Amino acid sequence: MSLTVHQVSKKYEAHLAVDSVSFNIQPGEIVGFLGPNGAGKSTTLKMIAGFLPSDQGVITLNDCSIEKDPTAYKKSIGYLPESNPLYLDMYVKEYFHFLAEVHQLPNPNKRIQEVIGEVGLTIMQTKKMGELSKGYQQRVGIGAAILHQPALLLLDEPTSGLDPNQLIEIRQLIQSLSSKSMILFSTHILQEVTAICSRVLVLHQGQLVANEPIENLLKTSQNKVTVIFEQTIDAHLPELKALGFQIELVDKHTLVAEANDTTLLKNKLMSFALAKGLNIQSLQSQQASLEEIFKLLTH
Ligand SMILES: Nc1ncnc2c1ncn2[C@@H]1O[C@H](COP(=O)(O)OP(=O)(O)OP(=O)(O)O)[C@@H](O)[C@H]1O
Ligand SMILES: [Mg+2]
Repeated sequence: MSLTVHQVSKKYEAHLAVDSVSFNIQPGEIVGFLGPNGAGKSTTLKMIAGFLPSDQGVITLNDCSIEKDPTAYKKSIGYLPESNPLYLDMYVKEYFHFLAEVHQLPNPNKRIQEVIGEVGLTIMQTKKMGELSKGYQQRVGIGAAILHQPALLLLDEPTSGLDPNQLIEIRQLIQSLSSKSMILFSTHILQEVTAICSRVLVLHQGQLVANEPIENLLKTSQNKVTVIFEQTIDAHLPELKALGFQIELVDKHTLVAEANDTTLLKNKLMSFALAKGLNIQSLQSQQASLEEIFKLLTH
């Protein structure tokens, strides 16, 4: 089963929150959904989850859509909303039994114990949800989303507000769930995306500005090369700039150049040095970070 989002838009009164967004997700993928506050991530996830109607466009899971067959569509989706609403007076196990009934699961006890084990709630299952820490409440939310074994899992900021240990544990949990469901999750933690995602979608003011594997994003970005020469090079700056790269002097001996393809850049700089009789003391390249790319895409 695969997810197709085709030219989907959503307006809140006059405000266009999601603007003709299109993308696909294939089985086995963990896709990170990034974008500044207010970019439209939660709105998009709500539309895919079938909680909010779109104004325009089509969302399908294989051939199934919410319009064609709402029951079958919703069965295929597990959704953890941003606010993770839980009945705080309910016991964890009782909540899962309630959900199993809603989903009409054939063998509820077995499946509930499986999920409780999978999300690490075994020792908390007899507690009230209001007594749980934020991290354990997130586990309940994720457990609730996977109980009916959906093909697509939508997680809206599943790791927000967690301490570093819980963050790592929830991340590992998300990773382990990808063998059973395609996962689309929103986050503001860029290192998380690097750690577990095969691909990232970046939304900015309702528009999709990137849809790439992380390696591609890093490759297509501007990478820097810093070169320190033994001799002063300020007199050569016009000729250096004529090489066709963005080049700035840091001091009289040091330049910083930027390019997508740093191999070509390095070769040109070394040939230049050779032709002019300049000695290179050091040459270092630095790949753009995901933070820098994110800033560039969303400014
Ligand atoms: N129910 C609503 N009514 C009116 N405007 C809304 C509503 N929900 C969201 N918006 C607006 O739509 C835009 C997109 O909001 P959305 O919550 O989808 O962004 P987001 O990317 O999830 O942001 P965040 O990272 O802060 O969670 C924002 O400008 C927001 O103010
Ligand atoms: Mg949001």
